Amino acid sequence: EKGGYDHFMIKEIYEQPKALRDTIKGRFNEDGVNLDEIGIDKELLTKANKVVIVACGTAYHAGLVGKYVIENLARIPVEVDIASEFRYRNPLINKKTLVIVVSQSGETADTLAALREAQSKGAKVLAVTNVVGSTIAREADSVLYTWAGPEIAVASTKAYTTQLAAMITVALALAQCQCALPCSEIKAIAESLKAIPGQVETVLAQADKVKEISEQIKGWDDVFFIGRSIDYAVALEGSLKLKEISYIHAEAYAAGELKHGTLALITDNIPVIALATQEQVLDKTVSNIQEVKARDAYVIAVAQEGNKEIGKFAEHVLTIPRTHAALTPILAVVPLQMLAYYTAVARECDVDKPRNLAKSVTVE
Ligand code: F6R
Repeated sequence: EKGGYDHFMIKEIYEQPKALRDTIKGRFNEDGVNLDEIGIDKELLTKANKVVIVACGTAYHAGLVGKYVIENLARIPVEVDIASEFRYRNPLINKKTLVIVVSQSGETADTLAALREAQSKGAKVLAVTNVVGSTIAREADSVLYTWAGPEIAVASTKAYTTQLAAMITVALALAQCQCALPCSEIKAIAESLKAIPGQVETVLAQADKVKEISEQIKGWDDVFFIGRSIDYAVALEGSLKLKEISYIHAEAYAAGELKHGTLALITDNIPVIALATQEQVLDKTVSNIQEVKARDAYVIAVAQEGNKEIGKFAEHVLTIPRTHAALTPILAVVPLQMLAYYTAVARECDVDKPRNLAKSVTVE
């Protein structure tokens, strides 16, 4: 059932191009976003003056990317909350708030409680979930399915990248209904999204290089991830993936925060994984890379193709094909998933079933 792969996790990593194609299919037409496919009440898409995204773990990280893309494309303020926090903090939401819950399984107890809390305050809830007929799918006011297929490995991979595709779809739907972007721009981003599955294949082709890097980091107790803007959200996900399956302590920092404490931890050869895909903050990220390099860090960079500068400061550069700035996370996370996987394999960890973790967290 692993289809020739050693573990479900690597099988699922390689299934991402198909999962993404299936999730994007039918959701765009000649007008831009095919709103009938999305199922969200059009009036709410037009009137929503605030979006609140609630989820746990990896799905929360998809929500963080959602904040960047919705705020940037639709110009609506977005809050992202961890479900176990949201449910107990008496959140400020009302019937003009679009609440989005993100859950692969559709059964996570805290996320379900957050959905109920939002509805009790009069908000409409859109669920982004991978499991048809799950409790969250049944109770939500509308559902945008990710079509990743069953995800067996505890560490989420293809569910995450399809959640990112769903976030872009919602962002474009809001932008379209609120006239925040010209139609031509919405269509151009939709076209870029359609090219993403093929571009993920290009990234997957760097597996040998990632394997080589995992040999370098497998002996370390600590690994740092840095990034700015949307790359910070990707850094958080890369760090979670590495720690949960390889048991290496990993932490992600907004690169600009280094000076505010973390730099004290950067010493001889410690691996720093630097995400540098965002053109508008590239200079700033490069200077942060130089800062850690000056403290003898072992830098592994993830950058867009054609970036000549980054190679001067990094031991290794993993490249992603060029795309729209809002879409880079779908590509940039793939080498980080592979890095976590190969490092965990090299450390002889139980990759598909990490200790103490369950695939579906149905208790608080
Ligand atoms: C990490 C991981 C978890 C889940 C989290 C939420 O790789 O898989 O962090 O993302 O438990 O689960 P769902 O999405 O099913 O609500």
